[in-house]
Parts: sequence; structure tokens; C-alpha cells
Amino acid sequence: MLISVITADITTLAVDAIVNAANETLLGGGGVDGAIHRAAGPALLAACRRLPEVSPGVRCPTGEARITPGFALPAARVIHTVGPVWRGGGHGEPALLGNCHRNVLLLAREHGLRRIAFPAISCGVYGYPAPLAAEVALRTLHESLASDPALELTLCCYSEPMRAVFQDALTSL
Ligand code: APR
Repeated sequence: MLISVITADITTLAVDAIVNAANETLLGGGGVDGAIHRAAGPALLAACRRLPEVSPGVRCPTGEARITPGFALPAARVIHTVGPVWRGGGHGEPALLGNCHRNVLLLAREHGLRRIAFPAISCGVYGYPAPLAAEVALRTLHESLASDPALELTLCCYSEPMRAVFQDALTSL
């Protein structure tokens, strides 16, 4: 199975890259962003600060992705992406969430990375309904696998209920 769905703390995964559900400043936060920065150590924040701002206070616009080393993490790299804040579904949220997953894999390909683990992007603070997010995430990743079968993708959920939602979306592909 080239896409697996697990329940784990993403900061423990020894993969080529873990994906961070960040905000546009890339200067850390709570949730998985906070966990990744805590586990990676202060060097990660320093590396993020060195990434250029594309507009005042914005290093990574929503839907885009940026890559840094993983530092103290078991993962070699962190690919930071910024998911959409859920505002009811009529503000381009599905397209933006799809862009997150596509742009993460574009960066992974550019860097020759194969084993990538994603959290449930936007499903926490950003309020994206998990079943809707899971459908977008799995469909997008499945499409990318078609053109790059060497990828080994993991959806790393932080709870059993969330894993069940993403497993259902995978089974329904
Ligand atoms: N491992 C895996 N998943 C985790 C972990 C972890 N260690 N910690 C939290 N999660 C899960 C949450 O349970 C949720 O299902 O990650 C998913 C995404 O939730 P958030 O981290 O809140 O991310 P998001 O909804 O995209 O909101 C991003 O939150 O932390 C801030 O700086 C971040 O402003 C940004 C916003």
C-alpha cells in the first residue's frame, strides 16, 4: 500500500520528510507546528527565519510549501505548508488544501525524497471538517502517486477517531 494511515506523533517518524501544518509566518505556533518545533529544537526556528518573506510577515502563503532540515527530529527534513482556515467551504478551501498536498510532493520530488508523512492539515485550529479534508487529501495524494509510484506516503493522525476518518477516505478512493 503506497499510502498508509496511522495514529502516531509525527515528530517520532524517521522518514525523509514530515509535513508541518504551519501558519504563513513560519515562526511556529501550537498544535503539530508547536510539537515539531519543540522536537526539532531552536535551529528549526532559526532556519525558518532565514526563509525570505514574500510579503510583510509572510514566508509561506496559504497552499504553498517550504523545506528545511529536520535538525533534532528523526526525520531528515520538514516540509512546511499552510492550510486554509475553514470559512464554510465557499472560499476556495478545497483547492487550497489540495495545493498544500501537491506543493509538498513537488518539493519532495525536487529534493529526491520518497517517504513523506502528512498530518491532518487544517483539521485542528483551522477548523476544516475532517471528512472533507480527508477526501481532498487522499484524492490529491492518490493522483500524485499515479505519476510517481516510488513515493511512500503516510497520513499520520493524532487520534484513533481521526485515523478512522482518513482510513475511510483511503478505502473510498
Ligand atoms: N503529530 C501528528 N498530528 C498532530 C500532532 C502531532 N504531534 N499534534 C497535533 N496534531 C494534529 C491535530 O490533532 C490535528 O488533527 O494535527 C492536526 C492539525 O491541527 P493543527 O496543528 O491545529 O493545525 P491546523 O489546523 O492546520 O492549524 C494551523 O495552528 O499551530 C497552529 O501555527 C499553526 O497557525 C497554525 C495553525
